[in-house]
Amino acid sequence: MKLKSVGIIGTGSALPERIMTNYDLEKIVETSHEWILSRTGIEERRIADEKTTTSDLAYEASLKAMEMAGTSPEELDLIIVATITPDMVFPATACILQDRLGARNAAAFDLEAACSGFLYGVTTAQQFIATGHYKKVLVIGGEIMSKIVDFTDRSTCVLFGDGAGAVVMGEVEEGFGILSTDLGSKGEGGKYLYQPAGGSLEPASEESVRNRRHFIKMGGGEVFKFAVRIMGESSARVIEKAGLELEDVDYLVPHQANTRIIEAAAKRIKLPMSRVKVNLNRYGNMSAASIPVALDEAVRAGEIKKGDHVVLVGFGGGLTWGAALIKW
Ligand code: ACO
Repeated sequence: MKLKSVGIIGTGSALPERIMTNYDLEKIVETSHEWILSRTGIEERRIADEKTTTSDLAYEASLKAMEMAGTSPEELDLIIVATITPDMVFPATACILQDRLGARNAAAFDLEAACSGFLYGVTTAQQFIATGHYKKVLVIGGEIMSKIVDFTDRSTCVLFGDGAGAVVMGEVEEGFGILSTDLGSKGEGGKYLYQPAGGSLEPASEESVRNRRHFIKMGGGEVFKFAVRIMGESSARVIEKAGLELEDVDYLVPHQANTRIIEAAAKRIKLPMSRVKVNLNRYGNMSAASIPVALDEAVRAGEIKKGDHVVLVGFGGGLTWGAALIKW
């Protein structure tokens, strides 16, 4: 069977209006704008209001992506929402979104690979379209991280923000679209980034709430070391798998966790920072939403043009990682 070429045919993003600056955080925890900026590159992030859910942001981002792709809700065959902050444990946020979009012909499920979730979603969608099983798939990375961040823990609360990015995927001209992908996980590193309570191991209880067990816990140093290595390695791997050379790469859209991690990845594939998308100064780390929001901004700003070789790469809880090389 000849596989179809699969690409991203529309992008969209949605961000809450409220801005929380580093100076705002100085009033909440013992930190400083200078510390946060120098260690991470973050200056501000968006924080959703009490009522906004992940599906609200996902809905807004999806409408924009579908408009760019010229795709109607009825045409969608599948909706994948990558998130670690679903509206609720079940039903899946993808099902809630399907209902709101009126995508009555679509199957829908959530996927959890933390910050790598969007790339896991894109790679999954690619398989369905390449084999001809489905024609149009909507993939979203959406998070309201502020609801699982402990605003008494300065080592994590300064890092994260809320947002959603969406893409419509479909068949593209032969030779274009996704040329290679690389997914991986390192389960033994799960202890470095996790939310202990709320699952079958530690169901919600008065005690779990009292002990703040429903918030993110992170061994930042370990995650940092892993990220610096894997972002470069995985980027290099998709370039090699696609049969390309480092100098063939035009643009890099990395997960937006830390400028130092992004710079290390760019250096590994010898790409100047002028060809790397960085928006974490404005949004912080939006987990699964970071890459699709950055991609949408780059596409709409004309930073990515038809024919460009674009690398998307990310890492996250699991520990997991993912990369894709796309001929735009
Ligand atoms: N303000 C001021 N001081 C702080 C803060 C803060 N917000 N946070 C920590 N510190 C202090 C620490 O207590 C420590 O003090 P000590 O030396 O007296 O013990 C000091 O600053 C240095 O802390 P380090 O952890 O060594 O700082 P580092 O330079 O490693 O930066 C950081 C920390 C930014 C968290 C970095 O390790 C990092 O970016 N790690 C990766 C994290 C990441 O990307 N996580 C998300 C993954 S994606 C996902 O799946 C959700």
